[in-house]
Amino acid sequence: MSMKILSNEDASPLSGLDQWEDDVLQRYPEPGAAAKSKDEFRNYDSPEIDGVREFYRLNHKYQTYENVLAKKANFLKFDKKEMPWWQAMEFLNTLVDDSDPDISLDQLQHLLQTAEAIRADGHPDWFILTGFIHDLGKVLCLFGEPQWNVVGDTFPVGCKFSNKIVYPEFFADNPDSYDERYNTKYGVYSQHCGLDNIHMSWGHDEYLYHITKDHLPEEALYMIRYHSFYSQHREHEYDHLLNAHDHEMFKWVDKFNPYDLYSKSPKPPVVAELKPFYEDLIAKYLPGTVKL
Ligand SMILES: [Fe+2]
Ligand SMILES: [Fe+2]
Repeated sequence: MSMKILSNEDASPLSGLDQWEDDVLQRYPEPGAAAKSKDEFRNYDSPEIDGVREFYRLNHKYQTYENVLAKKANFLKFDKKEMPWWQAMEFLNTLVDDSDPDISLDQLQHLLQTAEAIRADGHPDWFILTGFIHDLGKVLCLFGEPQWNVVGDTFPVGCKFSNKIVYPEFFADNPDSYDERYNTKYGVYSQHCGLDNIHMSWGHDEYLYHITKDHLPEEALYMIRYHSFYSQHREHEYDHLLNAHDHEMFKWVDKFNPYDLYSKSPKPPVVAELKPFYEDLIAKYLPGTVKL
């Protein structure tokens, strides 16, 4: 049985992928910063809130254990496209986001702002590179994947869904909630089995992890793979599955997360000025081309 989206459901309820990230930012505002009113941050009118809700409804309904295995079987063949890394970043940038009336940043600008904030704080070069590429997996959208299979908070599948995941009530529509293989605390896993043994909901994080796993330090791979796993890094809901090594590595995920969430500024970086620096970083760590 494949989880085909019902024909009367809109596969793209978000007006752009960034709308999900803006929603995360509302949920987890920068500590210490004066709380921005919704109006100040973005003109949220109800169709947009409805779009985010609808996005999560679809995400929670269709992100099943079976969906994840099917997406891995398809996308981890990396038989879609092969191109130089910089070209892949430009390919990602063909994703248009028409959701933002006030802060309109394209994908490349978000990635450069994240990376430049990491660089400004004097972190190692692989950390800067991680900031630069961390959302490349969103090219899934350009391969026809619906938004709910590309972005959104990620979470383990194959065990009980935490009620600290945003909009937990929508898991009532997920068949795994009624499947006794998958709906217990540990499900198909065991206590402290380690995240490497766990299937996360499918999306841009997991996809890019598999693309980069032979090339970057483990700390970077944790940042890439778990950067949207808010129910763990903010709510610690899956401590019973993590092992000691995961906890050690999650310090890096925690270090990365504020750069992803809080580096957005309306001033766009000058791509042409930064390109040589990032081309060098890519050449230092990554192969000449990326297979997608
Ligand atoms: Fe992301
Ligand atoms: Fe991001």
